[in-house]
Amino acid sequence: MKIHDKHYRTIWSTEDTPALVEVIDQRVLPFTFTTVTMATPQDAHDVIKDMVVRGAGLIGATSGYGMYLAALNASDANFKQDMIESAALLKSARPTATNLAWAADRILKATSDCLNKEELIKTAFKEASAIADEDAEFCRQIGLHGVDLIKAIWEKKGRRTVNILTHCNAGWLAFVDYGSATAPIYAARDQGIDVHVWVDETRPWNQGARLTAFELQQEGIANTLITDNAGGHLMQHGEVDMVIVGTDRTTHTGDVANKIGTYLKALAAHDNDIPFYVALPSSTFDWKLDKGSDIPIEERSGDEITTITGVSKNDIIERVRLTAENTKAANYGFDVTPARLVSALITERGVVNAEKKAIHAMFPENCLHS
Ligand code: MRU
Repeated sequence: MKIHDKHYRTIWSTEDTPALVEVIDQRVLPFTFTTVTMATPQDAHDVIKDMVVRGAGLIGATSGYGMYLAALNASDANFKQDMIESAALLKSARPTATNLAWAADRILKATSDCLNKEELIKTAFKEASAIADEDAEFCRQIGLHGVDLIKAIWEKKGRRTVNILTHCNAGWLAFVDYGSATAPIYAARDQGIDVHVWVDETRPWNQGARLTAFELQQEGIANTLITDNAGGHLMQHGEVDMVIVGTDRTTHTGDVANKIGTYLKALAAHDNDIPFYVALPSSTFDWKLDKGSDIPIEERSGDEITTITGVSKNDIIERVRLTAENTKAANYGFDVTPARLVSALITERGVVNAEKKAIHAMFPENCLHS
């Protein structure tokens, strides 16, 4: 998608220097546009841990390219062991998004029969590029399936503006391109359907305020920023037609882990009879966990709550304290919305009920359990 009218993906390898991989630095968006270059698996680990990149799909793509960088940096004699160690390093960066381990394991599997380093590098690059391309393509397909849900509401409303609420950033910045929750919105725009997006600010990291509002603005989609607590009020007053969010991990039984606060939006949507959709590529399903309560929930530093980053009048990016010094803060990154509150999942293969039987029927090749 576009930033200042130029098309970008969130991650790319520079063709004339294939030893390097570049990402957009999301810590400083929307105040400034800058990129970070990775040369080693440690760099890839660090950009994920420090949230230079974030969002399930992009974390997965970064993990894939991180494994390619691991191949480039592996020793000639011990490259298989080096790859296993790099996969463990990458997986330790953040706990909740499934795509991180999924991508590292996919590269390990693809390279398991490589006989020498040259073959290893070639295979790892091919697979990492396939993961990134697939992520973009699957999001595009999510858009094509999800747009029918928006269109149905638009028709029912006599073609008046469809108001969609979203939480956090499951936009193209959280993936390689298009986004999951935003892909149906971009597809609706392309089909001439009038949409308006309520953007939850998404404290404490403000992915909604800094990233979702920014990327929607860049694409010319009408949007309004709201506090995290405003959604219920808007729903009670008929100002929300549907909710579409992303997910960092969804169990094969339909329980959805997403940015903290999502569960409360699902409860409010349920109470107000508003459809609550979750958009995800199949790489975000956890095919092993049966219960959402078993999903590891990241706990981050309390400093993210007691301080806030913004830009001053002089265009200087600054971090300021919001609280009394030494205020104790607990920073849970994600919560789990039980399947019963999810109207449906929007995947690259179509819209599916958030329940095991339906999910297994749509993705039979991934089912480890009956
Ligand atoms: O902590 P983050 O920014 O990596 O969290 C990810 C998210 O942005 C959201 O939870 C998102 O809605 C789902 S990830 C596509």
